[in-house]
Amino acid sequence: MPVMGNSLRAAALLAFVVLSILVSLLISSVQQFGAKISHFSNATLAGDEGEFESLRGALNSQLNERRKEIIPLLLFNGDDENGLLEESRRFLQHDEALESSLDYNLWNEITHGSRKAHMDEMGCESLVDMQAVEILGSGYTKLVVKVNLAGGQPVALKLVNEKGIDMGKCVEDFKDPQGCRELVSYKLKKEMVLLQRLQHPNIIKLRGHCAGDSGGQGGRVQGAERVTVILEQGNPLQMIQLLQSPWEDRFRVCLDLVRLLHFLSHSPLGSVALLDFQPRQFVTVSGELKLTDLDDASAEETVCQTDADCSLQFPHRNFTLPCSARGVCEGLNEKMNIYNAYRYFFTYLLPHQAPPGLTHLVDHIMNSTGELKADINQTLEAFEHILLLYKSGLHLDNLPPSIIRDYTVIRGMGTSGNVEYRCWPSYSQQGCVLSVHSAREAAYICSSHPHCSSFSLSGHKTWTGRLLASFRSGFSHLVPDETSEVYVKKTKTPETPTV
Ligand SMILES: Nc1ncnc2c1ncn2[C@@H]1O[C@H](COP(=O)(O)OP(=O)(O)OP(=O)(O)O)[C@@H](O)[C@H]1O
Ligand SMILES: *[C@@H]1O[C@H](CO)[C@@H](O)[C@H](O)[C@H]1NC(C)=O
Ligand SMILES: *[C@@H]1O[C@H](CO)[C@@H](O)[C@H](O)[C@H]1NC(C)=O
Ligand SMILES: *[C@@H]1O[C@H](CO)[C@@H](O)[C@H](O)[C@H]1NC(C)=O
Ligand SMILES: *[C@@H]1O[C@H](CO)[C@@H](O)[C@H](O)[C@H]1NC(C)=O
Repeated sequence: MPVMGNSLRAAALLAFVVLSILVSLLISSVQQFGAKISHFSNATLAGDEGEFESLRGALNSQLNERRKEIIPLLLFNGDDENGLLEESRRFLQHDEALESSLDYNLWNEITHGSRKAHMDEMGCESLVDMQAVEILGSGYTKLVVKVNLAGGQPVALKLVNEKGIDMGKCVEDFKDPQGCRELVSYKLKKEMVLLQRLQHPNIIKLRGHCAGDSGGQGGRVQGAERVTVILEQGNPLQMIQLLQSPWEDRFRVCLDLVRLLHFLSHSPLGSVALLDFQPRQFVTVSGELKLTDLDDASAEETVCQTDADCSLQFPHRNFTLPCSARGVCEGLNEKMNIYNAYRYFFTYLLPHQAPPGLTHLVDHIMNSTGELKADINQTLEAFEHILLLYKSGLHLDNLPPSIIRDYTVIRGMGTSGNVEYRCWPSYSQQGCVLSVHSAREAAYICSSHPHCSSFSLSGHKTWTGRLLASFRSGFSHLVPDETSEVYVKKTKTPETPTV
């Protein structure tokens, strides 16, 4: 088991806590299987049958609302490669009220053409002998656990958060943990359907799921409300950590976000708005941003009669959008996403320490997104343009070419006995490691750091393909290293060593 740092005991304790939670979830799940049948007739609520009936009625109507939310998502019947549509539809079949209220032609249409679940899709059997590692996160609705499957494969499992606000509030309102679990599960189910519908590099990948009725024949099997969603494993986005990262990494998050929003604007479901847009809805997988919380995604359009019906309100800013001829607010979902990206991500991540040759472009993006002047296509174009310039080094055109002549290059060598200095934001905690386009840019940086007397370039590259350069104030000797080259500043006036 890989343990970070020296917190072995803490990790062991955490693993124990997680296991306890999982075990208790498992036990309660098994108990519910048995309890479900007698559930309705046997619940006693301080002996008040009438009140119970009315609460149950209210809860049932909420359950129906949640189901109805999912139906339209199922109607977009694209290719259902993973057979998840079929699976998701089975979830919904348990309800008679819904079935009787459904247009059967429509229902058959949904059924028609959707394939049986694929064999390569992960199911309950993949969770046998899994190892819980730690809790990755929890929110109002869901609990996310980091696990290693029996084969060693890391995944994230999403479950209903029994201690979450959603469950707590529901149980308080309806006094029916079982029914509430079912209600809250619908958010997980909706998320699953959305993950299946909206596949994109910047949306977390759905690996499969395990439902309580696995092994059932799709009929009215009891306990079907329990769902575990199996996802690609990521790292929760740490805004504080990101704020201290190099601009290149912060830019990447913003670019990924814009690529995601571009996709959502033209998605198979229409233009999708993220109603609960917060950094905590995202994770990173190998540095790439991925949306993981989709239960608050909505493809609904806002109907309107006049422009005044199309207002977008934010704490510090209001916008009014045009009401289109067909009576919907034009681009409302897209604009809502763009402004949220601006206020939660760009303002914190983008301008700070942007490369000097790119600041005017960054400022332009800040203004056009902060004022909602650009649509998502234009915003994406602006971001891709910055990426192109940054990768190609074109923004460095005005660096003096002669600056490299101040350095002597020694190829095939590395250094040892280094005298390091710190710089910010460095890729390394110990010394000063920055990304550069070329030796020339590195020379320019070294010349601007008072403590720098040499730097080396290695084969290591960042996500944009830029080189990692280590800057230092001195070293004791050179060592052979095929992958490295060392640049030493020629001293015009001999330096006096500082103590
Ligand atoms: N695939 C994943 N890999 C790693 N961490 C994840 C993954 N999915 C979710 N998380 C973490 O778990 C947390 C809770 O997940 P999620 O946002 O889906 O739950 P929620 O109950 O809807 O939360 P919220 O109350 O914020 O809406 C997330 O904030 C995220 O940090
Ligand atoms: C209600 O629960 C009691 C035990 O708590 C049990 O004996 C009884 O059979 C249950 N009633 C029904 C209708 O299931
Ligand atoms: C936005 O509109 C609301 C409702 O009309 C109003 O109360 C609020 O003061 C406005 N906010 C700003 C920043 O203009
Ligand atoms: C955009 O630029 C205009 C003009 O310079 C300025 O008044 C406005 O405050 C800027 N808006 C944002 C969100 O930066
Ligand atoms: C934006 O881009 C999408 C996909 O690339 C395209 O289908 C759409 O027509 C574009 N919209 C505008 C307004 O240019």
